[in-house]
Amino acid sequence: MKAFREAVTRLKGRHILVTGGAGFIGSNLVEALLELGARVTVLDDLSTGFEKNIEEFASRADFSFIQGDIRDSLADISTIQQQLDYRPLYTFEEGIAAYLAFSKR
Ligand SMILES: NC(=O)c1ccc[n+]([C@@H]2O[C@H](COP(=O)([O-])OP(=O)(O)OC[C@H]3O[C@@H](n4cnc5c(N)ncnc54)[C@H](O)[C@@H]3O)[C@@H](O)[C@H]2O)c1
Repeated sequence: MKAFREAVTRLKGRHILVTGGAGFIGSNLVEALLELGARVTVLDDLSTGFEKNIEEFASRADFSFIQGDIRDSLADISTIQQQLDYRPLYTFEEGIAAYLAFSKR
């Protein structure tokens, strides 16, 4: 519970990009991040993921989905990055911490 509270404190209101967020791991991470109060943008080309994995979040104001290939949309990515609380290592570590805190509640 302490880890969960700490994760909420760190993530509440932050805008986080989850690449591959329509996949198995990504969509579970998205759920955890939203539950912890983060705002989430998913970038996914749906090559192996499914829109149905994220459809439950689609109507939320704190969620957005961009269909695209991370390799082809560097211009888009840099636009997205300007809107994010984006620090790659931070985001990765926080994402893992958030997922663990969420799953251990
Ligand atoms: N129920 C289960 O236990 C279950 C279900 C599904 C998968 N798995 C396992 O989970 C493991 C990994 O799952 P995962 O979530 O890493 O795989 P995934 O394929 O579900 O997720 C990867 C996501 O990245 C996206 N993607 C790939 N290349 C991209 C690109 N260039 N640009 C944008 N998006 C891109 C895909 O469309 C997909 O949504 C696998 O071993 C799989 O077998 C388990």
